[in-house]
Amino acid sequence: MTKVNTGNREWFQDWANDYDTTLGKVKRHHALLDRVVRVSGVKSGDRVLDIGCGTGLLSLKFLDKVGCTVTAIDSSVEMLTIFKEKIEKCGLTGRVRCEQRSAEEMDFGAGRFDIVAATVSLHHVKEKQPVVDRIYKSLADGGRFVLGEIDLDTTGRLDDPKRLLRVLEYLSKELPLVMKEGGVPAFERMYDNGKKHILNDGEYCIGSEQWARLCHRAGFQEVEIRPLKGFAWFVVLVATK
Ligand SMILES: C[S@@+](CC[C@H](N)C(=O)[O-])C[C@H]1O[C@@H](n2cnc3c(N)ncnc32)[C@H](O)[C@@H]1O
Repeated sequence: MTKVNTGNREWFQDWANDYDTTLGKVKRHHALLDRVVRVSGVKSGDRVLDIGCGTGLLSLKFLDKVGCTVTAIDSSVEMLTIFKEKIEKCGLTGRVRCEQRSAEEMDFGAGRFDIVAATVSLHHVKEKQPVVDRIYKSLADGGRFVLGEIDLDTTGRLDDPKRLLRVLEYLSKELPLVMKEGGVPAFERMYDNGKKHILNDGEYCIGSEQWARLCHRAGFQEVEIRPLKGFAWFVVLVATK
């Protein structure tokens, strides 16, 4: 049976209304999303799946770049509601389909997408291999999985001091940026988020090499890891089917 963390769903329900005025204000976040769109090589007519779309920041960048279509899923109704308002406002209803669905539950069938993208959403999934397997299956031959994630090589054990030090290192770099660009409300939100990382509470980050192994096991032939320039604690991974 697939396990979905419902406590985490409540956290995102609470965050939805101020997502765009907190993390959405941080330039580093936009740098990650821009890089994901750029390296995806998206072209006109491509079918894109955005997993854990949130308020649609990544999907909107894909839609803005080229004439593609997007299927966007998220486990949070509240996040999707905000994204749907933007879709209406921008006149994009014909090009985007939103579904409330968790990554663990998705099953789109084989070869449905040319690009599957996910930014800072898949680290919330505890059992990652079945999800990466489904991503592989849902891609057409030659399709690409593009992942923008925090790069925290870890055993995942709560009591592993190395894991704690890595999380603290990540937070020591990220929180000053957040304070500078998003102000105190963003800092408060990401500080609370940091505590969840420390406690492994719905945040199960792994490193890029660990993601690459999951991709190879799923069947991806080619996996490339590209650092995010200037922000070494984030990485973009491109896996080609
Ligand atoms: C930090 S936000 C990232 C949103 C967007 N991708 C971005 O980069 O701005 C994480 C999103 O993942 C969603 N999420 C968390 N766990 C999920 C899961 N298991 N399946 C699908 N979405 C999930 C949350 O509801 C939230 O909207």
